[in-house]
This record gives sequence, structure tokens and C-alpha cells, in this order.
Amino acid sequence: MGVVDEVKERLDVTDFIGRHVHLKKSGRSFKGLCPFHHEKTPSFYVFPETQTWHCFGCGRGGDIFNFVMEYEGLDFRAALAELARQAGVELKPRTPEQQQAETEAERLLKLLAAAAEYFHQLLLSAPQAETARAYLARRGFVDETIRTFRLGYSLRSWDALRTHLTAMGFSVSELLKAGLLVEKENGGTYDRFRDRLMIPICDRRGRVIAFGGRVLHPDDKPKYINSPKTPLFDKSSVLFGYHLAGRAIREQDAVVIVEGYMDVMIPHQAGFKNVVAPMGTALTEAHLRQLQRLTKRFILAMDPDAAGIHAVLQGLEVARKTLDRELAPLFDPRGLIGYEGRLGAEIRAVTLPDGLDPDEIILQSPQRWQDLIANSQPIVRFYFEQLLQQENPHEPKGKARIVDAMLPLLADIADNIERDAYIQEIALKLGLDVRTLDERLRTRERAAAVRRQAAAHSPEPAAQGRDVEAHVLAVLMHYPELLPDVDAALIAEDLQPVQKEDFGGMYRYIWDAWLELDEHPEWELHDLLPVEMVQQVEAWLAAPLPEHSPEQWTRDVVLTILRMRRQRLSELITRLSALISEAQAHGDWTGSQHAQAMIDLSRYLGQVQSALARVGQGLQITLAGEERS
Ligand code: UTP
Ligand code: MN
Repeated sequence: MGVVDEVKERLDVTDFIGRHVHLKKSGRSFKGLCPFHHEKTPSFYVFPETQTWHCFGCGRGGDIFNFVMEYEGLDFRAALAELARQAGVELKPRTPEQQQAETEAERLLKLLAAAAEYFHQLLLSAPQAETARAYLARRGFVDETIRTFRLGYSLRSWDALRTHLTAMGFSVSELLKAGLLVEKENGGTYDRFRDRLMIPICDRRGRVIAFGGRVLHPDDKPKYINSPKTPLFDKSSVLFGYHLAGRAIREQDAVVIVEGYMDVMIPHQAGFKNVVAPMGTALTEAHLRQLQRLTKRFILAMDPDAAGIHAVLQGLEVARKTLDRELAPLFDPRGLIGYEGRLGAEIRAVTLPDGLDPDEIILQSPQRWQDLIANSQPIVRFYFEQLLQQENPHEPKGKARIVDAMLPLLADIADNIERDAYIQEIALKLGLDVRTLDERLRTRERAAAVRRQAAAHSPEPAAQGRDVEAHVLAVLMHYPELLPDVDAALIAEDLQPVQKEDFGGMYRYIWDAWLELDEHPEWELHDLLPVEMVQQVEAWLAAPLPEHSPEQWTRDVVLTILRMRRQRLSELITRLSALISEAQAHGDWTGSQHAQAMIDLSRYLGQVQSALARVGQGLQITLAGEERS
């Protein structure tokens, strides 16, 4: 049983609410004056059987968590903490293993913070760090940047760090786990980082989780030593600089992806703060997913050498697979033939001048960097130019290979005019007929569309009850960009936009938390929800959805929400009529107020039903139209 259920099991909603609201028994339920709106006669009910509450006056309702959230103005996490405390349910320790993992993670974070502080103080003032300070000065670092990134220095010693941290109470095995010590064959240990410039690597909230250590003497090898994979750090999902860049990425609606630590820190110092870097690896899906929450505009600024280009192209491949797709309708002379996914993101690449890294360019001239970014090339052109160098564009076979390699990228361009312009450009440069290239692209798209249609026509089983809510949440989480359209469709029917009351139980907390993440990109779901709910969301995101156009999904979600509302309203009406007849049987006539609530609910239900009819009909017509193809 999860913590949430455990709390519900231990706390009785009637007792609990009864401590805040004066409740009177009324048949099988309890009623009182609603604490959430002003009223003279009670329309606030608590239902012990379902452990829920509802106010027929203001429409608020839910379970014990919703009550606390409304009453105390808390978010779900805080409400859970509060109720768990009252229920005597231990919040953190769910299973002994989880408990251990969490306390271990907290210990490791403390340990790494202490290590970072130790290295930082050494860099600032130790006589042994003179070389490191001189090195940073030579590379253009000012004091403020050294502090912002909490740069440090590790002594030329086999055990200085171990001695320092064990004296603070951390154990050798914790130091090993944090990746700060290396184990020797004979069982002894030594400090992993010695005589290096220490660069702390932080998680999204700015907590140190690992280090990169750069040599200070050109002959030492390797140039960088990074922390190994630890329970806190996995370089395939961490972006260096993210915690300092997130806000700027969102504000400027663009992220610049560079290759190395220096290429993040020096731009940051020069005021270009929307910059992040992977750590000596290609871009991964995990990297891109984090960024995608903040922007859909990616600018790749990698080294111009062969390895750099390779990384750009690899990054592009991953980006094409990972980033959200907008489905665009595809027509042939007979009509609509289906939908083709187009990349909902804009990827550009900067060609760096030979032999120069971003940090060097900026130190020479920030203006030059700004110009480079401003003149970044759309990835299509960048890729085409690479292909022109790799293949022989004068040979027919070479031309064919270039065209075939370009097709997926061309198909990804959402704007038709833009796409046609590229087709012309490419045709011209290869000396091909525009129509040939165009036909090649259309053949490919038709094949893809036919495959999609076939996939879309396998019917899904209709979801039931709570499954329906899960379905809506899964769709909205996969395609967050649909929400405005769904809201608009509901508002057009004179109904409320999607609201948390549309979901019950844990789905409501999940939806609340999901919206919260938009306001705080540095948070993760784990900060807001207990682990079983996070796992639920992860399962939704991992499960593929059938291919539909955005219009189809919007209608699907609107219809489902309307059906959910119809269901909920019918339940409330049934409940209210039972309350009314019960009250009358007891000679307790609460007057016009219940009658008014009944009228309101019925009117609302009527509205939902006619909306359902209209939207449902719209669906029929459009589907009939689509079937022509
Ligand atoms: P670079 O070799 O381009 O180094 O590696 P850099 O970042 O430009 O550093 P400077 O300017 O020479 O000081 C790019 C990134 O690849 C990883 C690091 O994350 C580095 O920032 N790398 C590189 C390693 O992890 N280990 C290495 O030995 C080299
Ligand atoms: Mn460099």
C-alpha cells in the first residue's frame, strides 16, 4: 500500500473535517456550513462511506487531501506531509531499501557539497593552488565566475581529500560511492582527483553530484577526469550548466548546446547564459527531453573537427527521434491521404571557425560569438554542406546518396514554403530537376502515411471509469501543446476549461503537480509526488500512443472530458436527490437552496450533454470526410 492509501486508511474524513467544520448528522452523511464560500444554510456534505466531501453550493469537493489542500492552501506534497504526520505514517521510508537509498543519497549530496566547498576554499586561498589560479586567469576567468561555478582545486596528494572528509565524519565507503576515491587492488584507496582544476557538476537544482577535473600541466593525461557513474550521477542524463541556464533558455526561447565545460562557463561570464554541454558524450534522449520542456529551438555549436561534426549529426539523429512531432495533414490530388509527423522543433547549427572553441571566440570578441549564433544555419543546410564534402556531388551515385540522406530531414520541415525552398536549393546545387526531387520526397511521404493509416485503424478498446481519466492524462502529458486547444473547445461550449476537478483521487494530485512543473522547470515530479505516482506518470510517458492528428487527439480529449463530466454530474445529482428525500423524510426541509443546487447541476448536465452531441457529431462528419481517402 502506498503512503497515500495508508493515510486515508488511518484518518477518517468525517473526524478530520469535523475538527474544522461544525458537522451535523443528516441521514448517512454529515452536513455543515461550507468553509470555502459564504452561506447561511448548509450545503457542504461529508460522505463517510466514500470518505469524500462535496459542497453543492460552490461545487468544491474531493477527498481528505483535497480538503487539506483547499483549507490550508497547500500543494499536494505539503498536504501529504501534514496528513502523514497526523496519521503517524512515516513519509520517507516506504520500503527499507528505498529508505536506505534516500538517506544514502542525502548523505552523498552532503558529502559532495563538503568536497566542493573544500576544493573551492583551496582554490581561493591555498598557496599550492597558485598554478590553478594563474591558469584560470590565463583562460579569462574572473572571480565572480569562479564563485558562480564554485570552481576548486584538488591538492597534489593521494589522501588529502579522504583525510579531510573522514575527519568530518564521512566514511571511506561513502567516499568511494561518491566516486571521489579509487580503490586499489590491495584494498587501499587514493584520491581520484589530484592537482586538478575542479569543476563541480550539479543537478537541475544546483546540488553538486559529480566533478570534472582538468589538468593544469599540458603534459598530464588525460585532459579531464570525470566522476564515474554513481547513484547520483550518470553523465548520459546530466547537462553541465543546466541549473544556471534554465531560466535564460526559457526567456530567450533557445538553447545553445556546446561541447565542453569551458564553453559553458566563459559564455555565461560574458552574459550568454542559455548554454549547456553534455560531458564528453553525444547528446542523448534524456538530455533533449529536459531541454524540450524549456524550448523548442536548439542551436548546436560544436567543434569544427571531424569528431565534432560527427557529434552534431549524432545529436541530430537523437533529436529527430526524441523531439515532439506535430502531425501535418498530407494531401494528394484525390484528397487527404493521412498525416506525417513533422519535427516540432527548430534545430540549427553553428559552424565554428577552424580551431576555435566558443570560449576562445568569446574572449576574442563577444560580438563575433553573437554574430555566429545569429547566423547559425538551419540543420538542413548544415547537413547538406557536410554531405557535399563526404560524397561526390558530380557523380550520379553520389547525387542519389545525398538526396536519400536529405529526404528524412526535408520531410521533417513543418513549413511547406520553407521545404520547397530547400528542395529548390538542393536541386540547383546538385543540378537536378526540382520535380524529380519533389517526387522522390512525395513517394517517401506516401509510403509513410499509408503505414500510419494502417496503424491508426486498429481500434483501441474503450476505456472505462478511472481508466478514462488515465487516458486523458496520458494524452495530455504526451502532447502538452494540445491543452490550449482542448481548453478553447470547452470554452467555446460555454464550459470550464480542463480543471483539476475533472480528475479524482491520485489523478487529481498528478495533474496538479504536472501543471506545477511548468511554473518551476527546475523541479522534478519526484519533488511533488510520492514515488508510486511518479512511476505511474513514467509508465504513461513510456507507453506509445497510437498515431492521430492533433485535431483527432483534441477531439478525443474533449469528448472524453465531457463524458467524464457527464458521469460525475449524474452521480452528484443522484446523491443530491437522495439527500433531499432523506431530509424530507426526516421532516428537515432545507428549503430552496437544495432545489437551487439541483437546478444548477441539471442545467450544467444539460449543457454538457448538448456539447457532447455537437462535438460528437463534429467527429462523425470529419471522420466521414477523412475516410474518403
Ligand atoms: P575538449 O577536449 O573539447 O575540451 O572536450 P574543452 O572543453 O574544450 O576544454 P579545454 O578548453 O581544452 O580546457 C570537450 C568535453 O569533453 C569531455 C569534457 O566534458 C570536455 O569539456 N572530455 C574531454 C572528457 O571528459 N575527458 C577528456 O579527456 C577530454
Ligand atoms: Mn576548449
